[in-house]
Amino acid sequence: EKGGFEHFMLKEIYEQPKSIKDCFRGRLKANDGKLVLGGIREYSNALINAERIVIVACGTSWHAGLVAEYIFEEFCRIPVEVEYASEFRYRNPVIKEGDIMFAISQSGETADTLAAMELAKSKGAVVLGVCNVVGSSISRVSHEGVYTHAGPEIGVASTKAFTAQLTVLTMIALRVAHRKGTLAEQRYREILVDLENIPNKVAKALETDKQVEKIAALFKDARNFLYLGRGYNFPVALEGALKLKEISYIHAEGYPAAEMKHGPIALIDEEMPVVFIATRDSSYDKIVSNIQEVKARKGKVIAIVSEGDSLIPGMVDHTIEVPGTHEALMPMVATIPLQLLSYHIAVMRGTNVDQPRNLAKSVTVE
Ligand code: M6R
Repeated sequence: EKGGFEHFMLKEIYEQPKSIKDCFRGRLKANDGKLVLGGIREYSNALINAERIVIVACGTSWHAGLVAEYIFEEFCRIPVEVEYASEFRYRNPVIKEGDIMFAISQSGETADTLAAMELAKSKGAVVLGVCNVVGSSISRVSHEGVYTHAGPEIGVASTKAFTAQLTVLTMIALRVAHRKGTLAEQRYREILVDLENIPNKVAKALETDKQVEKIAALFKDARNFLYLGRGYNFPVALEGALKLKEISYIHAEGYPAAEMKHGPIALIDEEMPVVFIATRDSSYDKIVSNIQEVKARKGKVIAIVSEGDSLIPGMVDHTIEVPGTHEALMPMVATIPLQLLSYHIAVMRGTNVDQPRNLAKSVTVE
C-alpha cells in the first residue's frame, strides 16, 4: 500500500504532481480560459461582494491560509485575516453578516476549526470549507465548499494536502478576481496557464531529492534550524520549519526574513543552519541582502533558488534549484525540497516518520 516507498510520507510527497492534477480535474482548462468551481454556487455572489474574508485553520492548513491571504488581497483586493482557529473562537471576534469565512482542513475533523466555524455561522457569516476528506464534519457544517481531492493522506506530516489546499485556494481567488474585474483578462489567462503547469514544475522539483538527501546528511545532527522567506515564501518558511519539528524533533523556527533583525539574528553563529526560500520574485533583492547578513555572521546557508540563478549560489553554502513560475504559485513548488529535507533528516535520525511521537493525524480535541 506504500507503493514501493519506505514511508507513506515519501509516497505522498511523490504523489503531488498527480494530486494537484486531480484537484484541477473538471475545474480548470487553461487554454479555454475555463475555471469552474461547482462547490461554490449559491454563495458565489456573496464571496465576490465580500467586504472581508476571515480564514481559520490550524497547523499546515493555517500556513495555506497565509498564502491565500496574499493571493486574495493581491488579486481580488478583498481584505483578509488569517486566524488560528483556537484563538479566534475564544476571543469574542468581530464577525458580521457579509463576512466570508474560509475553514481549511485536511481531515475536516479539527475541533478548534469546527468550533470557529460554528461561531461565525451563529453571527451570520457565510462559511466555506476547503477540506480533503469528503463528508467530514467540517464539510458538512460549511454552507458550501471546495474539496481538495488529494486522496487519503496517511503520514501525520501534511504534504500533498498542503499543495492541494494551495491549488484550491488559488483557483477560488482567480475565479473571484476574474468576476470582480480586479485581474485583467490577459493576466488572468496567463496565470491559469502557469497554474496548469504546476504539476510539471513540482515533478521537476522532486528531482532535487538526491541532492537534498546529501544536504540532509550534513545537517542531521543540528540542534536548531532557522527558515526564512519573504512575501509569498514567508508561509513556506513557516511550513518548512513545522515539517522539520514534527518528524525530526529538531527545533526549527520560520520567520519573515526581514524580522530576523528584530531578534533571531542573535542566534546565528557557525553552527546555525539557515534555510532561505529565495526564488526570483518581487522580494528577491531584499532577500539577497538578508542572506548577506546571515553569511556575515557565519551562518550555514541552504538556499532554495530559481533555476539559473547565478548570484545566490556564489554567496551560500548549498543551493537547491527549483523551476520558476508566477510568484503567487511559487509556494507549491518551493515547499517540495523542504518536505524532502525534513523527510531525509528524520529518516537519518531514525524517528517514526509517519507517526511522530505525541502527534495525531486529526486533532479532534481542543
Ligand atoms: O486536518 P487539519 O488540516 O485540520 O489539521 C490541522 C493540523 O493539525 C495539521 O496541519 C498539523 O499541523 C499537521 N500535522 C502538519 O503537518
